[in-house]
Amino acid sequence: MGKDKKRIGILTAGGDCPGINAAIRGVGKTAIVKYGMEVVGIANGFSGLVDMEVHPMEEKELSGIITVGGTILGTSRFKPFKPDAGHAITDKPQIIKQNYEKLGLDALVCIGGNGTQKTANLLSKEGLNVIGIPKTIDNDVWGTDVTFGFDSAVDIATEAIDRLHTTANSHKRVMVIELMGHHAGWITLYSGIAAGGDVILLPELEYDLEKVAECLLERSRVGKPYSIVVVAEGIERPKKKSAASYIGKKIEKMTGMETRETILGYIQRGGTPSAQDRILATRYGAHAADLIHRGEFGTMVSLKNDTITSVPLEEVGGKLRLLKPDHYLIEQGRSMGVCFGGKL
Ligand code: F6P
Repeated sequence: MGKDKKRIGILTAGGDCPGINAAIRGVGKTAIVKYGMEVVGIANGFSGLVDMEVHPMEEKELSGIITVGGTILGTSRFKPFKPDAGHAITDKPQIIKQNYEKLGLDALVCIGGNGTQKTANLLSKEGLNVIGIPKTIDNDVWGTDVTFGFDSAVDIATEAIDRLHTTANSHKRVMVIELMGHHAGWITLYSGIAAGGDVILLPELEYDLEKVAECLLERSRVGKPYSIVVVAEGIERPKKKSAASYIGKKIEKMTGMETRETILGYIQRGGTPSAQDRILATRYGAHAADLIHRGEFGTMVSLKNDTITSVPLEEVGGKLRLLKPDHYLIEQGRSMGVCFGGKL
């Protein structure tokens, strides 16, 4: 390692999604080609730094990965600052700090969602030079307009809902589909509108099953042969039940209409990234390398009104960016007769 060469570590943590490899490629290629830095790949999120599961990444390893889903580095949900089962504060942060020094790292790039950025901020406070990149299909990371992974998930969910229309019409059924998003309704709102959902239930909006039943019965009364109900996994419901199962069974009981449920699940996290996500992830990655070059640490790259910028990690950690009840797609959906579970 040339003594004047900066050496950066890259890790990917939390739920995987399409676009992570595009982000790794964006950081890595910019660091190597533009700044002559060295790149170290860290396996399986923060646990790779504890276990020293690392390897040098040459530029050739970054070729051909922009289209590849998932993460070539592997990921985990390991949280080094989370007390262990015995409630003792673990020594994992200290081990990470020692290994960061042992590796001779000048910076650490953490690609992940809100949990990852919270850990990134805590490591930054321990003195590590950290840059965050916001990643998640949930689109719920504070401080940026959008995370990569979200656009691909919306495309996947929209295509799935499109397919439900034809089978619903053939059988004259109510089809309920549950989408991911954790506590946020971004995927459900965007794909619900894109795919012509008739009922869209979001964690951010209280719903009344009576109103949902009324809406479906009214649709039937005016001759609509089927209905599509799009529900977010995070809506209020008995914990032991999935959102789809709870809503589907209630609808069938309250309306007498034949109902079937689909849980789209991990399909939303798989496969190749959309072009939009490839571009956003590349922009995020390249900017992370620029921030390292400029020594602007303790920050997360972000998008504000289509401009790539950055925000202090301090502002991001532990917060969720949820839908506002007056989001323009909710307003537009309502004015077109979409039922969000409130008044008809
Ligand atoms: O954060 C992404 C996400 O897919 C959420 O939408 C979902 O609730 C969660 O991860 C599932 O977690 P896991 O991958 O640990 O099962």
